[in-house]
Amino acid sequence: MIKYIGSKRRLIPVLGELVSLAGAHTALDLFTGTTRVAQEFKSRGVLVTAVDLATYAHVFAQCYIETDASEVDLGELGTIIDRLNNLPGEPGYVTETFCTESRYFQPKNGARIDAIRNVIESDFQNSPLRPILLTSLIEAADRVDSTTGLQMAYLKSWAPRAHNDMELRIPDLLPGSGMAIHGNALDLAKTVGSFDVAYLDPPYNQHRYFTNYHIWETLVRWDAPEYYGVACKRIDSRDEGTKSLFNAKRAMPDALRQVVKDVDCEVLILSYNDESWVSMEELVEMCADRGAVEVLAYDSKRYVGAQIGIYNPLGDKVGEVSHLRNQEYVVVAGDPSRVATITKPLVAANSRQEAVDATHRAKRAVEKLFTITSENNQCF
Ligand SMILES: C[S@@+](CC[C@H](N)C(=O)[O-])C[C@H]1O[C@@H](n2cnc3c(N)ncnc32)[C@H](O)[C@@H]1O
Repeated sequence: MIKYIGSKRRLIPVLGELVSLAGAHTALDLFTGTTRVAQEFKSRGVLVTAVDLATYAHVFAQCYIETDASEVDLGELGTIIDRLNNLPGEPGYVTETFCTESRYFQPKNGARIDAIRNVIESDFQNSPLRPILLTSLIEAADRVDSTTGLQMAYLKSWAPRAHNDMELRIPDLLPGSGMAIHGNALDLAKTVGSFDVAYLDPPYNQHRYFTNYHIWETLVRWDAPEYYGVACKRIDSRDEGTKSLFNAKRAMPDALRQVVKDVDCEVLILSYNDESWVSMEELVEMCADRGAVEVLAYDSKRYVGAQIGIYNPLGDKVGEVSHLRNQEYVVVAGDPSRVATITKPLVAANSRQEAVDATHRAKRAVEKLFTITSENNQCF
């Protein structure tokens, strides 16, 4: 798995439990990113549809969600990965842009990325193995990059891992079917189908995925774009078409409200954190039309960039972070008795005492603002 801001690695067991407790047969992951959450659902036997706006995230979804591991010849795949691993370096766009103009990768690895990507393009363009090989390449490149996990900057001094020789591995494919859709959640929420559970994990602030992961976008598109700035970002990062309303402060609350309203599901699960432009009170209010709303809260380490300090694009440390821990919230909305049944075991578990305490704090904050007006519109 790649390093990814907003990745829900730590919450995965909770999200998986919720889906199992809901008895879900179908689930939608509308902002799937690395597909970590969608994979957890799939591994529990749920038929998952995974959506994302980013091209690389769509490739991950094709690899981990759409591909049925039982239909892949792992022997053949292993042979192809060995062949790609043994290709000699062939300096090209990646080497020039991300190793010479900037320093995201050591040139020896950049040249191998170029060579491997060229062969994927020439030999596997229309093959069902394409998304698997691209995922394998991106994950291998991520293991030898010299960043904090964001591609808005690279480190001033090489990260120790950057000196390693890049090595492609076979991704951990899952058996079973699923669907990957490349598109905008705002367009798809209403039309994508009907699900037992829908999981929403949108961006809640200005951190754009298109620019933070521009190298993965280019590796998938393989379109050698013009680039600008110290970070060598794609020139089309400036185009409106590459921007998401979820990263626009004024538009984001309405966009989220629209998706929450449009999505067709019995149980809605939302991830939320306290660094968001939307307050918890607003979020609960957005979900209230669905019936009951329950909030689980977890203390969580912040994304890696925040843990190591604030850096300018040249990699110089220019500031300290204010705090290293934040709260992650899981909001569950739907029919009141169903929501109670699903969330009760998690709230009751002794091992989740931390979550219980934080949940009470979140509830108290929300109760200040909400009065239960009717059974159909209750908040807790
Ligand atoms: C917080 S991340 C999701 C992380 C994911 N749950 C994981 O664990 O990897 C948000 C995702 O939303 C995607 N995104 C942003 N705007 C979108 C939109 N309008 N429609 C669909 N996906 C969008 C981003 O590309 C990003 O992958």
